[in-house]
Amino acid sequence: MHMDQHIMESPLTKLITDSNRYLKCYHHYLKHSTDQQTMQEFTNNLLPDIMTKTVNGKSNLNVIGVGSGSGELDLQMFSALHRKYPKMTVDNEVIEPNPQQLRCYRDLVSQTPGLDYIRFNWNKTTAEEFEEQWKEKKRTEKADLIHMFQVLYYVKDPGATISFFQSLLNKNGQLLITLSSGNVGVVKMRNAYKNQFGTTEVNRSTGDIRRFLDSKGVTYRSYDLPTQIDITKCFIEGNEEGEMMIDFLTQVLDFSKTASPELKAGVMEFLRCPEFSVESNGKVLMNANYELIVLEQLT
Ligand SMILES: C[S@@+](CC[C@H](N)C(=O)[O-])C[C@H]1O[C@@H](n2cnc3c(N)ncnc32)[C@H](O)[C@@H]1O
Repeated sequence: MHMDQHIMESPLTKLITDSNRYLKCYHHYLKHSTDQQTMQEFTNNLLPDIMTKTVNGKSNLNVIGVGSGSGELDLQMFSALHRKYPKMTVDNEVIEPNPQQLRCYRDLVSQTPGLDYIRFNWNKTTAEEFEEQWKEKKRTEKADLIHMFQVLYYVKDPGATISFFQSLLNKNGQLLITLSSGNVGVVKMRNAYKNQFGTTEVNRSTGDIRRFLDSKGVTYRSYDLPTQIDITKCFIEGNEEGEMMIDFLTQVLDFSKTASPELKAGVMEFLRCPEFSVESNGKVLMNANYELIVLEQLT
């Protein structure tokens, strides 16, 4: 019977539900993408310029990091700002729901010398829980810099999260959001197979954020952050590294072991598509560009 067949189909499990595997795949992805170089260039070159109007005349910066992960990017960002503004101190509110990630961040801070200009406040919460607590406690502080790097895929309602955090901005404060850009292969693939992957939130891109902001008449600036992923090993059947990459790209746990042959073939075809991937020096490189969206205080 059709109904029974439907019920018996084993549904695919989201990668994010297994935090160990998630981290493993994420680290693998980082190693094989230009993600970190892109973000390093961003923190070293673009960010200090973007922050000039916010930092001017300030001796202390209030920062909120939403989904800061294990903190590498946060510390890179602080060190770039510290080089430009050595006298400035920082109050840094870290929001990170994954306890392992938060532990890694705290360890990184304790192992990194010269961070005494930053005061850390740790929140083992989601952005949504943080918002609830903020409202319960009737907090009224304002933030100069709020960032959400690669996080809005995971929140329940990105529009609501953006609106809440934008409302916390100080005069001249800025909210920085990065997500995959709308035209990249990974996003297109996730959208093409979203019913099979059983996920919706990870299909998000800055295209969705732009649509939300445009519909609300909120103005913003945007910057391209070009990125590529080396997906060569995805084409070697049974290759463990290739499988980690495919898990991360599909955001499905053990994709190669649990997906139907048809779905697997479809994904492989997608990865090979010349619109998204180029072959160069025996490597297959997929476009995975990010986009930065910058919001200011609503007037
Ligand atoms: C891809 S990582 C990005 C980490 C870091 N911002 C970076 O760019 O290197 C996404 C992070 O968002 C966190 N996260 C997931 N759901 C969240 C939520 N609802 N609110 C805040 N953070 C969340 C995850 O635990 C993870 O650390």
